Amino acid sequence: FRTLDDADLAGKRVLVRVDLNVPMADGKVSDDTRIRAVAPTINEIADKGGRVILLAHFGRPKGQPNDAMSLKHIVTAVGAVIGRPVAFADDCIGADAEAAVAGMQDGDVLLLENTRFHAGEEKNDEAFAAALAKLGDLYVNDAFSAAHRAHGSTEGIARKLPAYAGRSMQRELEALESALGKPERPVVAVIGGAKVSSKIDVLENLSSNVDALVIGGGMANTFLLAKGVAVGKSLAEPDLVETARRIMAAADKSGCAIVLPVDVVVASEFKAGAASRTVDANAVPDDQMILDIGPQSIATVNGWIDKAKTLVWNGPLGAFEVPPFDTATVAAAKHAAERTRTAGLNSVAGGGETVSALHLAGASDDFSFVSTAGGAFLEWLEGKPLPGVDVLRQG
Ligand code: 3PG
Repeated sequence: FRTLDDADLAGKRVLVRVDLNVPMADGKVSDDTRIRAVAPTINEIADKGGRVILLAHFGRPKGQPNDAMSLKHIVTAVGAVIGRPVAFADDCIGADAEAAVAGMQDGDVLLLENTRFHAGEEKNDEAFAAALAKLGDLYVNDAFSAAHRAHGSTEGIARKLPAYAGRSMQRELEALESALGKPERPVVAVIGGAKVSSKIDVLENLSSNVDALVIGGGMANTFLLAKGVAVGKSLAEPDLVETARRIMAAADKSGCAIVLPVDVVVASEFKAGAASRTVDANAVPDDQMILDIGPQSIATVNGWIDKAKTLVWNGPLGAFEVPPFDTATVAAAKHAAERTRTAGLNSVAGGGETVSALHLAGASDDFSFVSTAGGAFLEWLEGKPLPGVDVLRQG
């Protein structure tokens, strides 16, 4: 695909798809990571004399404009991060948008209203994509985290204008390529989270692509069940025991080690400070639930991290939101961060919860790459095509 290095930007109207779907608290942006991720692209285009027209969605308004999901609430935060004024237009297509674009000078930045206020965005209809494309000379996609959606502003428009990857998109794709495309082996994947059901395709894809698959969090309980181990009151999905067996068989066939907890931390309820103890994974009492993996299991996970040249991480190892059940997640994240600093481990993490867990462990700065994506990172782990990326490759 083409990048900003290939684009002639001076004097051009450049439509830039960014992901401004950021967390808000009390009407203010509470985490500006995604804005910081796209700032280099915006500033580079503006510095080269391009007119930057930002396209973004916020929330899931399903084609219905509403004040709470207006991007006008984000304008100040974008301006603060990029360090230049940002104008705003009340619509992303039509007369208002056209007038706002017509009034721009070289180097100006304009944010257009939520693309999802038009049903044509999610339908990816021709007319909507054409109305967007009309506003610009070039299109740059810098929103990897929205690239799993075949929408007007991520896919349709890229077929109508010369299309380029922005710097954040480029960095995401390079990191992902280094982790699963052409990785240095051994590759170890750590996959956690509550449910197998949300990550079946991830586990299936990884089980034939990585050298070891560490399974933690609630989903490990379903795998323990599949091995005939009783898990007491733990969160588990008995319906997926067969799926878990299939994944283990596939891993076995392709020489991928499946790493399950050998000891676990249990409590009678899921509550902060609940009395907890460590037991063997095959000795969980009937009235107890597994809330974290135990010290021996942490040592095993860290041992795999020591062997790895490449680490892919998605999902916590325990119920990390409630201490002390964050112990394993924090310990393994710290260990991976240290191996990245001292032993050249290539560590790539992604997914909303994962990023919070790494922050909690103070480990995110040391990881080689932390993706800004949630759903798109998962779809990539599933080995699925990402429409917003594929269309750039065709261009
Ligand atoms: C995200 O927050 O992961 C992206 O912005 C995509 O949002 P969506 O899941 O509503 O498409």
